[in-house]
Formats: sequence, C-alpha cells, structure tokens
Amino acid sequence: MSNILAIDQGTTSTRAILFDAQMQVVGSAQQEFTQHFPQAGWVEHDPEDLWNTTVETCRQVMAENEITASQIAGIGITNQRETTVVWDRETGKPIHNAIVWQDRRTTGICEDLRDAGHEASISHQTGLLLDPYFSGTKLKWILDSLPGSRERAANGELLFGTVDSFLIWRLSGGTSHVTDATNAARTLMYDIREGQWSNEICSLLDVPMAMLPEVKDCAADFGTTSADILGGEIAILGVAGDQQAATIGQACFQPGMMKSTYGTGCFALLNTGETPVVSKNRMLTTIAYQLNGKPTYALEGSIFIAGAAVQWLRDGLGVIENAAQTGDLAPQADPGQDVLLVPAFTGLGAPYWQPECRGAVFGLTRNSGPAEIARAALQSVGYQTRDLWEAMRADWGGDTHVTLRVDGGMSASNWTMQSLSDLLGAAVDRPVMQETTALGAAWLAGMQAGIYPDQDGFAETWALDRQFTPQLDVAPREAAYARWQRAVQAVIGV
Ligand code: G3P
Repeated sequence: MSNILAIDQGTTSTRAILFDAQMQVVGSAQQEFTQHFPQAGWVEHDPEDLWNTTVETCRQVMAENEITASQIAGIGITNQRETTVVWDRETGKPIHNAIVWQDRRTTGICEDLRDAGHEASISHQTGLLLDPYFSGTKLKWILDSLPGSRERAANGELLFGTVDSFLIWRLSGGTSHVTDATNAARTLMYDIREGQWSNEICSLLDVPMAMLPEVKDCAADFGTTSADILGGEIAILGVAGDQQAATIGQACFQPGMMKSTYGTGCFALLNTGETPVVSKNRMLTTIAYQLNGKPTYALEGSIFIAGAAVQWLRDGLGVIENAAQTGDLAPQADPGQDVLLVPAFTGLGAPYWQPECRGAVFGLTRNSGPAEIARAALQSVGYQTRDLWEAMRADWGGDTHVTLRVDGGMSASNWTMQSLSDLLGAAVDRPVMQETTALGAAWLAGMQAGIYPDQDGFAETWALDRQFTPQLDVAPREAAYARWQRAVQAVIGV
C-alpha cells in the first residue's frame, strides 16, 4: 500500500498519475475527449466521457505499471473547476451535458441578478463576481430549462456536483455525495466565511439545497471505490480544484506566497492565510485549501489566453509548426521593433473582466514578421501576469515573498520565464517537479493515508529547478508596462 493514484480531470483531457512512496511519478496515462459547442459561447462536456476517460486512464496506468488496487493507499482527485453536472440519484445518469466553466450562456441570469441589486451580497459571501464562469447560474439554467427537474431535485431525486463530486459518486457506486471546500468555493453558492452552503443565494437561484453535496476538508474520507471499477476497493482521500491543487503542489503554504500556472490560460493564486481578503481590483477571493477544518484563503486572478496565444501562432497564423518553436523564434525578433499583442481573443479576464473586447497587435512595421509576433505573444503572458501581480499585491497590502512559483506547459520555456521575470521585476522560480497539480492531489491523499509527510515536511521537499531574475532595468521595464496598459485601454475602448 505504498502508492497513490492521482486523477486530474481537466478541461481538455483526463490524466491518471501514479506516485510512489517517495512522491515520485511512477507512470501516467492521458486521454482527450470531445468538446461540444452547441451554440456560440456555449461549451459542454458529455459527463460519460469524463467518467469513461477517468476509469480507462486509471486502469491503463495501473496495468502498465503492474500496480493493483491493494497496492494503492489512496486516490487524490483534482479537476476542472466550476463545471456543472446534474445527475439522477437512482441511475447515476446525468440529465444534461456538463456545462463547462468557459460557457457564457448565463450572462443574462448574471445581469438580472446584478440589476436586482444582489451582487454585493453574493460577492461578500462567495468571494466571487457575478459572472457566468461559476456553477450557480449554470445550475439554475439547467433547472429552468428541463421541465420537472426542480421538483425532482427538491424530492432528492437529482443531485448536483462539480466534476470531482460526480466522479466520486460514480467511483463509490452511488454512495458518496461529497465535494471539498475548494470546489464548493467556485460554485457561487458556498459561503466561504461561514463554511456552508448559502441559504440566501440558493433561494435567489431557486436551487433546492437537497441536491447539494456535503462539503469536506481537502484531505478527508470521501468514500471508497466500488471493487468492480479498479479491481478492488480504494479509499478516496484527497480532493482539490486544479488551481488549488497546483497551489498545494507548489507548497505555497505561507501567506504572501504566489503561484502561477500556465496552461491554455493562466491562473495565479496568492495565499492570504486565515483571512479572506476582499479585492478592490476585481480579483476573486477563494479557498486555497482546507485542512483540519481550517480554511486558508487566497486571492485569485484568471487570464484566459496564455498558451492559447502560442496555439494561435500555430493554428491561426501558421507561423510555427509546434509550440516549442516559439521559444526559438522570439529571441530572433528585431530588438528595434516594439510589436505588442493584446491577446483578448475571448475578451479579457482579471482584472479587467471585459468579455466583449477583442485582441489587437500594435507597433507593426514593414519588417515585422513571425519572430516579432512570436515575441509579442510570449511577452503578452508576462504583461498579463504583471497585471495580476500588481492587483493582488495592492489588494493584500502585506509583504509578498518576492518570488513567483511557476508551473504548467509554458513554464518549460526559458525565454518566456526570463521575459516574465523582466516584466515583473521579480524572481521567478521553476520547480524540479513539473506535475504540481497532480502532486498536490496526491499529497493530500498520501498525507491522509499516513504515507506522505505532513505539511511542513512536504514543503521541504519542494526543489528549485531554475530561478530567473530580472535582467531589465527599472526604466525600460516600467515604460514597457505603461505601454501595455495603454494598449489594453485602447482595446477596451474600441
Ligand atoms: O477554473 C477553470 C480551471 O479550473 C480549468 O483548468 O487546467 O482544466 O483548464 P484547466
């Protein structure tokens, strides 16, 4: 019983990662699944795909590494957050596709709530903004759209959950209807100060509270897998939303520590300790993790386009064949040109929250080519991170550790991380362990199982791969950032 199985159910793929007793990766399996776009701005997943890819990747990684259920001390689950599933308690069958966090269909519901004057109270309780990003309005939409579903939910026949909750229901053979505090904190229905579902918000959304899962710590007894699924019973002992799991995996356990994960988008979390900090800069207040009944809070900033800017270079412009080429191309850019990209392809997230504005390129000359555009794309990630960095530090007011811990695909690019450090004017630390999200989930489960170290012991295992320190003087850095801010205002104004 010296292994831990981590499940990372993400937006575009599902992964299963096996860790050994030393918290090292033994092996992993990954499967992508279909994205459904039924209308402009709508994004859905078939929950059966989420389930099947979970079971298949778990079975695959166990078989390939010749590990049986009896050798696994626990399962840790981390997941795309906010994505909303409603299923039948009796059959376990979803009554609708999962509505994905990116889905904008509930913009109107959010506007109605705002017009009715509810935003301040909802924000105070949940730490979130009235935006379609979160689960609550998606759940209301499902209950409004499927006749009879609200009554069935009130009778206890239908259950709601984020993806972790749905997977646990299935894994446990329909016996555990649970979630953890970090996932609950993204639903727009959970009072992060009181640590309970909000009566008031549920009644505003007309959501029967009977359908909500029990909320647990991140390391807890979430149930046991039914023996037929993975060849034996395995305890599910850790759960955290994926950005929170990365925060845990990066051991950002001290107030002032901050991590930034570069995937398709970028999510930065700043640990603010025992206090939920209310943002004056349109950051989100959320739960970083909850252990032993005690929540640790965070400020979160989300930007929608990071790695997606590189995908655009490849798929939209066709100037590169693979993502890795960007890091080779960018240093070849003419230093005399100042091409700047605002990648507002799907609007701008924090701190601007401008869903309707669109991207732009500034500073083009006759000589501007792929290298200058590639450099601008990579720098746009740095500028956007600087926006979050400034906003969070201003909100928190306390001393931040002067470094930023980074992970995710783009953090592998030395050029991008150096440019990030230059634009922040701060050190950027890249850890040896790049599987921070899965590690966070695995550690929660392994600690709960008693085979992994406690929080302090785990923090000591964090190891630096490379530190990037600013190579740019203050004056050019601030001039470049001021130009970025003007460019963003121009984009918002158009
Ligand atoms: O809030 C959404 C976030 O949890 C999605 O993360 O990595 O699945 O795109 P990811």
